[in-house]
Parts: sequence; C-alpha cells; structure tokens
Amino acid sequence: MNYHQILADITKEVKALPDKGTPASYIPELAAVDPNNFGVYLQPVNQKGYGIGDFDKKFSIQSIAKVFLLALAYKKKGKALWKRMNYEPSGDSFNSLIQLEYENGIPRNPLINAGAIVVCDILLDLLPNPKQDFLQFVRKVAVNNSINYNEKIAVSEAATGYTNAAIANLIKSFGNLNNEIHDVLDFYYHVCAIEMSCQELSKSFLLFTNGGVISETNERILTLSRTKRINAIMQTCGFYDEAGEFAFKVGLPGKSGVGGGIVAIHPEKYSVAVWSPRLNAKGNSHKGMKLLERLTTKTDSSIF
Ligand code: DON
Repeated sequence: MNYHQILADITKEVKALPDKGTPASYIPELAAVDPNNFGVYLQPVNQKGYGIGDFDKKFSIQSIAKVFLLALAYKKKGKALWKRMNYEPSGDSFNSLIQLEYENGIPRNPLINAGAIVVCDILLDLLPNPKQDFLQFVRKVAVNNSINYNEKIAVSEAATGYTNAAIANLIKSFGNLNNEIHDVLDFYYHVCAIEMSCQELSKSFLLFTNGGVISETNERILTLSRTKRINAIMQTCGFYDEAGEFAFKVGLPGKSGVGGGIVAIHPEKYSVAVWSPRLNAKGNSHKGMKLLERLTTKTDSSIF
C-alpha cells in the first residue's frame, strides 16, 4: 500500500474543499490558533510512518487526552471503574448536563466531559502527584519526553470553564466525586491542555492498535481485553453526538478534540492522526473527518 501517495492525494482534495466552521472560541487561547494549519500522519505497525503538511507542529489535543486518562485509570482501578461511570454512548454534546441529572450523577461514558471529570477524581485518589504522574504516563506511551502541558491553555480554559464547573458540581451533589471541585477541575484542564503533533499522537495511539503493548519498547501497558474495550468505547463514544456519523463514514475507532485533532486506529494495521482546527457544529474537525473518510475509502480499510 502506497500510504504516502494516498495521503498526499487526499490531503490535496480535502484542502481544496470549501472551508467550513471555525476554531473553538470558548477557550480563548484556542481561538488564537491559525485555522489554516493542516497536518496528517499515518503510522503503520512495524513500519516507518508517513506525514504530510503540518504533521510535526504541536497542537492542543484536548479531549483526545481522555483516552490516555481512561487507559491509566483502567490499568490502576480495573473493572471497579464501571461503578462510577457507564460505557454507553451519550448521543449528546461533549459538555451536556442533561443525562447526568436523570442518571443520578453517573456519567454515560469516560469520553464525555462528565466521565473524564470522574476519571480525574479517581486518579486524584490513586496517584501521589497526579499531574506529574499522568504526564509521565503519556510520555511513556508516546516514548517521548518532550510531551508537555500548555499552561496558558489550562489557565485559559479554567477562566471560562463555567459548564465544566456546573458538571463537576452536579456530580459532586450526587456524591460521585471524592475530591474538591477545584482540584478535580485543575487536573482535568491540564489533561486537556496536553500538546502533541500528529506524528506524536499517531505513534502514541499505536498502543491501542497494538493490543496494549508499546511497540517501540515492547512493554505491555494494558491487557488485550482492556485494550479492546477502550477501542469499543472510542468507536461508540469518541465523537459524542457524531459517533454514528464517524462509524458510518470512516469506520474506525477514534477520538476527536476541540483543538481540531482527530486520531483513529485500525487494530493491528495503523494509527492515523489529522489536525485541522475549523470545527463543525458538533465540535469535531470538519476537514479532519473528510480526510479520514477518504482514507478508509481509498485504502479499503474500515474495521467493518
Ligand atoms: O472541557 C472542555 O470543554 C475541553 N477541555 C475539551 C473539550 C473537547 O475537546 C471536546 N471534544 N471534542
């Protein structure tokens, strides 16, 4: 398969489409990003990777980091995680409060804000230095010590995080948060403020492509069964109320973030990350979705 040629062709096609949407503006620092950035990187298992455009520029991975958060909590807490949240798709926006009230403070899944906030609370109870320990985990999975938080983005999100504060307060009122709301949210905002390039992101998601083993170091992080479950959650919950659309048009487990990044994996074949900051109405990268749809069509490589 000539991935490099395919990526070059589909990037050209997708870049030529009319621009739709705008970068996320509710986090002021994200609104400052040049909307014309466009990068993609495909990392096959056991082969060299292929990048086009801005594939080595770092950007805010935002909600994509919820997958690393889930992986660390699942590794540490095992199935007891599912007493605190569910693993059903929400069919609602990423920051919705509606189901939380009906469902007594138990989030639908770990990839919506409510679920990730509960996962942060769980890790605050388990990690001696949560922010540092989580960063170390991501660096280990990425095999890259340059991965870091962008403090300016964490501060910017905290300053405007009224909806996340409402979510955390509602969960706490149902008794499903142990720690102080300020501490849980401070950790959550840092998690979302991790920066990576498409190249770094696709390499680190090889963990999920590769059955829970870091390819480069051969270290097992997750059991095969837990890796499959995380992939199932990405498939059904990774795009909020557009999870059906992504399964229908792309056909791979994946996760988006409001920084305009999307990462998707084909188990045992490849991991691919794309970055284009203009978002559609559901908060997912407009051209990122288009590019991945073309990729799986041209390579005949959906999981279905
Ligand atoms: O909590 C928020 O609003 C952001 N830190 C993360 C949102 C996000 O990336 C949702 N994804 N599409």
